[in-house]
Amino acid sequence: MAFKVKFIDPPRNYAMIKEEIDAAYFDVMNKGDLIMRGHLSQFEENLADFAGTKYAIGVNSGYDALQVSIRALGIGTGDEVIVPAHTFVASASAIVNHGAKAVLVDVGADHNIDCDLIEAAITSQTKAIMPVHLNGLMADMQRVMEISEKHGLKVIEDACQSLGANVDGKGAGSWGDTGCWSFYPFKILGGYGDGGAITTNDKELYDFARRIRFNGEERETGQYHGHGYTCLLDNLQAAWLDVKLAHLPGWIERRRAIAAKYGGGLSGVGDLVLPLDNRDNFRHVYQNYVISTSRREELFNYLTENGVETLVHWRKPYYHHTALELEDKGYPVTEKLSAEVISLPMNVEINDEEVGIVIDTVRAFFAS
Ligand SMILES: Cc1ncc(COP(=O)(O)O)c(C=O)c1O
Repeated sequence: MAFKVKFIDPPRNYAMIKEEIDAAYFDVMNKGDLIMRGHLSQFEENLADFAGTKYAIGVNSGYDALQVSIRALGIGTGDEVIVPAHTFVASASAIVNHGAKAVLVDVGADHNIDCDLIEAAITSQTKAIMPVHLNGLMADMQRVMEISEKHGLKVIEDACQSLGANVDGKGAGSWGDTGCWSFYPFKILGGYGDGGAITTNDKELYDFARRIRFNGEERETGQYHGHGYTCLLDNLQAAWLDVKLAHLPGWIERRRAIAAKYGGGLSGVGDLVLPLDNRDNFRHVYQNYVISTSRREELFNYLTENGVETLVHWRKPYYHHTALELEDKGYPVTEKLSAEVISLPMNVEINDEEVGIVIDTVRAFFAS
C-alpha cells in the first residue's frame, strides 16, 4: 500500500544530497579507486574523530565489527560474554560463532542492559561484556566500565544504533576496548548497502582488525599475520558515507527535534510509554523512536490502515528461536517490550506536516 508517511524514504534522502553523492561516485569511478584506497582512509579518519577514538577500521557490516572484535580480544571456546536479551540477534551471533557462550541479561526501562543484573551473570568463564546502545541511547557506560574493571573483563560496545550518542560528553564507541558500528542503509549513518566499522584506542586491536579484514595480510610487507577474512568496507561505500557523515551533526539535531515534537504530541496519551530521555548527561540521537502500549497490535494495524508505516523490533525475542540454542533464564522486561514496542517514523526525510499526521493518527487511535 502507499503510505502517507513512510518509515524511511531512501529516494527522498538521496534527493537531499544528490549532488554530493553523485560527485563522490564519479570521483571514485574516474579514479578507479575500488578497494582500500583514499576514500576509505579519509572516512576512517573522520569517523574516528567523530566517535572520539584514535582509530577506526572499516569492515563489511556491523556483524563483522562485532565478530572481529570478539576474535581480536582472544575470546573463543569455553569463554562467556554477557549480552542483553533485548537486542538484534547479530550481537549474540558474533559471540556464538567464535565458540563462546552468550550469557543473556535482561534490560531496564531505557531498553539497555540492566547494570544491576550484570554481576550475578559473571562466572569464572566470563571474558567480556557487550553492552548494546539501543535505539540511539547509550547504556549506562559508567556502571559497565566500573563492573568490567572490578572483574577484569573486556568491553565490546555494540554501538550499531547509536552513532553520535554520548554519556557525559564521551561518545558511544569510545568507552570500551572496541566500538562496533553498522552502516546498514536504515541506520543513522546508512550506506547504500552493507557496511560497518570498529573504533578503538588500542593500537594492537587496530592492527589486528585492519589485517584480519584483508585476509590477515599486512599490505606493505605482504606478510600474513593469521587466517583472516575478506571483509573490507568498500571504497565506494566509504566515499558515500563520508558525504553523509558531514551532515550527521545537523541530522541528529533534526532527529532530536522530531522526537521533541512526538514527545509534545503524545505524552499522556492512552497508556503510551515514550522513550526514556530524562537524564541530562545522556544524549539520545533517536536512531529509532520507540513507544510502547499494551494495545500494540491494534495500534500497529490502525496506523497501517491509516497510512502510517511503523516497525516492530522485535515481536519474538531472539532467544525464543530454538535453532539459536540460547539459554532462556527468564527476562521479564524483554518479554514485555517484545509484546508492547512499536517504532514510529523517524528519519531526516520526514517533514513537520508528516510528523503531525503521525501524532494525530496515534491520538485518534487512543480516542476511538
Ligand atoms: C544492535 C545491532 N547490532 C548489530 C547489528 C548488525 O549490523 P549489520 O546489519 O550491519 O551486520 C545491528 C544492525 O542491524 C544492530 O542494530
